This record gives sequence, C-alpha cells and structure tokens, in this order.
Amino acid sequence: MSTPPRISTRISAISESATLAVDAKAKAMKAAGRPVIGFGAGEPDFPTPGYIVEAAVAAAREPRFHKYTPAGGLPELKQAIAAKTLRDSGYRVEPSRVLVTNGGKQAVYQAFATLLDPGDEVLVVAPYWTTYPEAIKLAGGVQVDVVTDETTGYLAGVEQLEAARTERTKVLLFVSPSNPTGAVHSREQTEEIGRWAAEHGLWVVTDEIYEHLVYGGAEFTSIATAVPELGDRVVILNGVAKTYAMTGWRVGWLIGPGDVVKAATNLQSHATSNVANVSQMAALAAVSGDLSAVGRMREAFDRRRQTMVRMLNEIPGVLCPEPKGAFYAYPSVKELIGKELRGRRPASSAELAELILEEAEVAVVPGEAFGTPGYFRLSYALGDDDLVEGVSRLAKLLADAR
Ligand SMILES: Cc1ncc(COP(=O)(O)O)c(C=O)c1O
Repeated sequence: MSTPPRISTRISAISESATLAVDAKAKAMKAAGRPVIGFGAGEPDFPTPGYIVEAAVAAAREPRFHKYTPAGGLPELKQAIAAKTLRDSGYRVEPSRVLVTNGGKQAVYQAFATLLDPGDEVLVVAPYWTTYPEAIKLAGGVQVDVVTDETTGYLAGVEQLEAARTERTKVLLFVSPSNPTGAVHSREQTEEIGRWAAEHGLWVVTDEIYEHLVYGGAEFTSIATAVPELGDRVVILNGVAKTYAMTGWRVGWLIGPGDVVKAATNLQSHATSNVANVSQMAALAAVSGDLSAVGRMREAFDRRRQTMVRMLNEIPGVLCPEPKGAFYAYPSVKELIGKELRGRRPASSAELAELILEEAEVAVVPGEAFGTPGYFRLSYALGDDDLVEGVSRLAKLLADAR
C-alpha cells in the first residue's frame, strides 16, 4: 500500500507568492544592514489617513464590536459600499448584493470558488497578477492565457480574446487598471470587450481595486456600468487597500448577483466568518468619506511614475511603455537577457533580478511571476529619493552588460 502524500496535491500545486518572496528577501538583506531599495511592494508608502484610524479606535472601544457579526459584513458597511459603488462607478446595487471579505484577495478566491466547476475555462490577460492563477486552479478551473506585450501597451482586444475562447470558456477576468502593467482600457475598448462577453454568454469578473489610481488623462471605466447587456453575469471585486493606503487592515468586497453573493457568503461563513469589526468600521469611514486623501496620493504617484518611466527608458536594453494606472511600471528587459554582466550571464529575467539584488542591492520582481518572462515589475509606491537612487543604481549596473 502506498503512503498518501503528506501535502494534498491540490495545495502542493500552489506556488509561493513571488512578489512577497522578493519583498521578504529584500527586507532580510535590509535587516542585515544592507542598503537595499525595494521596488517589489504592492502597497502605498503612505500611512492610513487619520480619520480612518480614529474610526477604528472608537470601534475598538464598543463592546458590540467585540462579538461575532453577520458573516457577510456589517449592514452599515454594505450600505456604504453600495453608495460608494454608485458614486464611483455609476453602478446601482442593493446592499444585499455586497459581500465584505478579508481583503480583495479573499474576494478573488471566493469569486472563482463560487463560479467555477472543474474544467471551466477562464480567460486571463497576461501579464497577470500572481494570485489569480492560484485562485482559479484551487477552484478546479483552467486558466487560458491571452498574452500581450509592450507593443500594444499590454492591452488585449476582442480579436485576441475571441481566438482564446472555447466551448468551455465560462469567465473573462477583466482588470483595468492592471497590476502588473498599469494598462488602462479606454471606455470604447471596455464597451467592446464587454459586449463581446455578453454576446457569448460569458461571466465577467472585474477587479476594480485600482479604480482611483489613473493618470495623465486616462479614465477608469467600470465594465459593469458601461455594458448593461452583461446583465447579472458580472462580479465586481474591490477593496480599501490601495485607495486609502489600508493594505494591512484587510477589507475588500465582492459585488454580484444575489445567488452568487449568497453562495459566496455561505463559503465565507465556514471559512473565516465576519471580517474583523474594527477593520470594517475603519473601511466604513474610508468609503463614506471623500476622495481627497487618494487625490494627494495620486499626485505623488503620478510624479514618481513620470520620473521612473523616463529614467528606465534611458537605460540601454530597457523598454518601458507608459503605465496609465495603478502604481507599477512593467519594462521589457528582453534585450539584456543572455548578456555578460559582472562575470555572469543571466539566462532569464528571474536570474537577472537576482543578480541585480546582489550586485546593486535593488529589488525588482521578475516577469516570471506574472506569466511573462523577459520583464520586470517595479512599484513606484516608494519615496521620490529612494526611487531615483534605486533606478540610478540599476542604470549604472546595467550599463556594464555586454
Ligand atoms: C489587482 C489586485 N487585486 C486585488 C488585490 C488584493 O488586495 P488586498 O487583498 O490587499 O485587498 C491586489 C493586491 O495586490 C491587486 O494588485
């Protein structure tokens, strides 16, 4: 009789988050006293605005928040999320169609767990955020990559999506602004893609977590609002992490048709029950307040974005299209792969990233993490001086590539 594996096949197929791994290595080097500059983190460098923190402090003092609350979220927060969705996306939903989750990540997991049966295909535009493949796989789904590159600004059009569609396609994952590329679809492109999805009876799972971080005249368009023909086959994922510098508070949400929200709430009721009440009350202050704090962050990000893109494009062998949203640049470094650098010859972007961390003490996330080797993701959510110093070190090192 053979011994069953210690770790289930399902879970052992999950890889470590590459972005967190780079961040952890950089932090360990820093702790050891090395002056590492990290472009790996996917979080604003600002603290959470004071009025949000104060709301949490007040909530922590209230005994009713020391107890279990409804698994699907505090009614007042669901109401506020519905109101915020109407304000920001023009999308009208009843609070009963909102499920409050432990960060956007849990919304991603629960959306796919709720929609997918084994073998169902999901169209995913690559480069993609590292978490989607694991969530799809765990739900038994099959990810079908729609690969884009810098020549189209990392945007996939209907023709490319249609070429990847099969009889098993159930879901289109739509992410605009995108992590890792910062690509933003125009309203026209969004409408075209949405109409195509509707025509073929596909579900659209749309991740709107970077909705407020768009620059240089780019506009966020919610596909749910832009394409009413999608009817009730739309699931919106969102959260407070990026808009209000609240990554550590762990509050996100999922908005969908009643049956999906009910099923996902059932799942959550067994997995995690309610999200921490103190965090929910902080999120309530965030979503029911104005957008001035994110406006100030956006200004800083925009300035850093322009500096970073300009400096990256000055490095021979690096090609960086202008990101229009989120807080990442995604340059191609394909020309540098295989070149000789400090006595080594990195054969992949992963190897080049490792060399850069060791030689220049600069942490970048290699494109392997996002399904497209040959690229780096650099977050510009860090201080201006560090940004300039980090990219300068990169330029100095890469100038030696032969
Ligand atoms: C595209 C995208 N969606 C969702 C999330 C989830 O964020 P959180 O779980 O912190 O709310 C992230 C975080 O990096 C992201 O980049």
